[in-house]
Amino acid sequence: MTLPVRRAPLRLRLGLLALALILLLCALLILFPPDGLERASWAQFIGRFHLLTVHFPIALVLLVPILEWTGRNPRFSYLHSSIDFLWPLAMLSSLAAATLGWCLARSGAYSGRLVTQHMWGGVSVAAACWLCWMLRGYFHGPRLAYPLALVATVGLVSWTGYRGGQLSQGENHLTEHMPVPLRKLIGLSSGSTALPRSNPAYFYGAHVEPIFITHCDSCHGPDKQKNRLRLDTYEALMRGGKHGPAIKAGNAKGSELFRRVTLSPSDDDAMPPQGKRPLAANEVKLLELWIAAGASSTLPANAIKDAPTNEVPVVAEVTFPEIDPAAVTQSRAPLAQAVGQLKERYPSVLDYESRGSAYLALDASALGPRFGDDDLAALKPLSAQIVIADLSRTAITDRSAPLLGAMKHARVLRLTETKITDATISTLGGLDQLESLDLYGTAVTPASLKVVESLPKLRHLYAGATKIPADASVSDSLKGKLVF
Ligand code: HEC
Repeated sequence: MTLPVRRAPLRLRLGLLALALILLLCALLILFPPDGLERASWAQFIGRFHLLTVHFPIALVLLVPILEWTGRNPRFSYLHSSIDFLWPLAMLSSLAAATLGWCLARSGAYSGRLVTQHMWGGVSVAAACWLCWMLRGYFHGPRLAYPLALVATVGLVSWTGYRGGQLSQGENHLTEHMPVPLRKLIGLSSGSTALPRSNPAYFYGAHVEPIFITHCDSCHGPDKQKNRLRLDTYEALMRGGKHGPAIKAGNAKGSELFRRVTLSPSDDDAMPPQGKRPLAANEVKLLELWIAAGASSTLPANAIKDAPTNEVPVVAEVTFPEIDPAAVTQSRAPLAQAVGQLKERYPSVLDYESRGSAYLALDASALGPRFGDDDLAALKPLSAQIVIADLSRTAITDRSAPLLGAMKHARVLRLTETKITDATISTLGGLDQLESLDLYGTAVTPASLKVVESLPKLRHLYAGATKIPADASVSDSLKGKLVF
């Protein structure tokens, strides 16, 4: 009978000490929150160990309910005695992991909603472990207090871990490759995940914002803001980051943002940083023209005459001086029903090229791996109407080759980072309207150059990160068109 009484004060003393440590960490997080600035690299070095250490407390917390439950069987009752040791261990290790995580966030230029939630989740886990530790042994509160705290702690660990996964693997890391039937079951299938975009009638919405969303969002978007810079809205872009405005309206060369996207990719200041795909030449040009023209959010999309518009397959609303609605309706009539149905099935993927056109623009890049050969096959009846097709990073393969070959009116075709090979390119010989072909990051080889050479209107072939070497010998007709 005397044993628990003697043990209790020790647990209490240790508990108070642990509580002081938790409160100390809280104070640290409040006084020095992650603010999106980069700091000393030794701090980043230490912080990186967060990723190694976090799994230890997770495993310990998940172990407790297993031991509690198994220990109810008299044969395994000895398991119960280890739990009083597991709780403080889980608490201390989550405290250590949270401290390292703070170190990483604080020095590695993290800020934003995700990191804040993950961080406070981590501290709460330490606090919850502390509570469970105390409830189990010392404060014999209501009988249900401990089991409830245990369940809540397991839930908190899972939620915090999920947020951490989102931070390192992307927001939809768990559902990204979920099989379609399961997606449907949990009501995830609509596929309309396209980001809200600014008005494409303006140059900013049509040409500038898509560049930032594609190339910069992962570090300067809603969830992370390296150097406090956000590029996902016009206001944030113009506000700038740690070093103030990154854009000087009217002066592209004097703008920090433009300087960084035009540096050699190996330069320390280059954006996007080394290892990420640099901006394409036409994207740099668009930024330059837009900044030079005053970097306004309301500059009309077609205001700059020599802008390389058609390279960025965004459906810009072109204003035709005289649109005859009746004529438009008539030209669209034969396929209107099919278009209507498919637009419904693939919202934000398929649309008319412009107000006055019967031609279509297809942009499946936002769906990524969720758009594959079967989806493209569904668009077969419309293939001859498609003039702009962006299938970048979708799951299409050579199985789609006949369909791509049937896009007789295509002017822009983007197959960036897809699984297509020379077999697909060999079917594109008939695309005599094609002006731009983007094969960046595919496995095509110089064997494809022969087909490409024969395309009469081709102006650009993007062949970076393919098996086509930058010094490949090309015919005169391709010279100057090949971009790496
Ligand atoms: C992989 C993450 C990552 C991506 C993607 C990325 N950046 Fe950055 N960016 C950083 C980091 C880290 C810093 C701070 C370190 C530095 O100054 O180089 C930074 C800083 C900047 C700054 C300086 C802001 C200031 O006030 O100090 C600009 C401008 C910038 N980035 C522009 C861009 C643009 C434009 C893109 C897209 C084309 C882009 N970044 C994509 C990580 C990224």
